[in-house]
Amino acid sequence: MSALLDRLGVELPVVQAGMGGGLARAGLAAAVSEAGGLGTIGFVAADGLRSEIAAARERTGRPVAVNLLLPFARREHWDAAAEADVVVTFWGKPRRRTDRPWVHQVGSEREARAAVAAGADGVIAQGVEAGGHVRGVVPALELLALLRRALPAGYPVLAAGGIADRADVARVLDAGADAAVLGTRFVMSDEAGASAAYKQRLMESRETALTRLFGMGWPAPHRVIWNEATERWLDRDGRIPRWLDASQRLSGPLLARLRMSAQARVAATQQVARPFFGPFAPTTDGPRNLLDAGALYAGESVARIHDIRPAAEIVRDLARAA
Ligand SMILES: Cc1cc2nc3c(=O)[nH]c(=O)nc-3n(C[C@H](O)[C@H](O)[C@H](O)COP(=O)(O)O)c2cc1C
Repeated sequence: MSALLDRLGVELPVVQAGMGGGLARAGLAAAVSEAGGLGTIGFVAADGLRSEIAAARERTGRPVAVNLLLPFARREHWDAAAEADVVVTFWGKPRRRTDRPWVHQVGSEREARAAVAAGADGVIAQGVEAGGHVRGVVPALELLALLRRALPAGYPVLAAGGIADRADVARVLDAGADAAVLGTRFVMSDEAGASAAYKQRLMESRETALTRLFGMGWPAPHRVIWNEATERWLDRDGRIPRWLDASQRLSGPLLARLRMSAQARVAATQQVARPFFGPFAPTTDGPRNLLDAGALYAGESVARIHDIRPAAEIVRDLARAA
């Protein structure tokens, strides 16, 4: 059993990744935690984080994590995150800003060493197969092996990317991971906040693209399934036109300066023919244009997942290997 999970009071080595913008709210996080895994509330405005954590607490007495995206996390987010049992951070320079147990998701040995030096209680090794924003440049098992050699013996390392079923969980645990972290499998659950049409597309998709298309306001690589926007603007390698890449880089982490309500208005104006795409995904309560003019995040494992199921059932099934 992993010392980190033991310390957190998490029974099963299955972690649901934080998925922002309303994809992973209290309902999903609480269902995963209640089933014995670790559920994570995805990044939203600070008051939203606070109310989602409170809502999760009403549904489960078990530990719940919260995810913060470092380029966008302000003091209010950190204050809200202090209400959760674990803080999981992603993207950018790791720095301890909480007295809660803190885990940072990394894509390289260098980044992992920086997280350890900053006092992280564990790292998530993210492979390049992962869905959503992708820091990893090598497969998850390769990065896991690298980190196991590079970091102190027994240091908690979780693995993310390409994990779809119980055999995948067994494989990463055998390779020395403390737990398996899954995003794509859980966005394809009943409780995920992805719109029904997005979930349907996920069930039908086999192919993903690692791209920068949806990088306005957050110019960073991400993995998505194909939709009208990707068909219109990407070449077969997932590359976007140079001029678009340049304008996105100029936009920098612009979203950090926009209020959430303003971000929602920007998302609602996105159109396939107008290549100014922010990182918004279609949610149950979001604008419908995002199905073809927004990011349908998914990892390579989408090719092997063909059902939408209750999160608790997914957790129990995955953990049968443990
Ligand atoms: C739909 C979706 C949204 C994601 N959003 C976030 C996010 O907001 N924050 C984060 O740290 N990671 C996010 N990720 C990445 C996950 O943390 C994790 O690395 C990834 O899901 C693991 O690979 P998998 O998708 O193959 O399971 C997202 C992944 C997906 C699939």
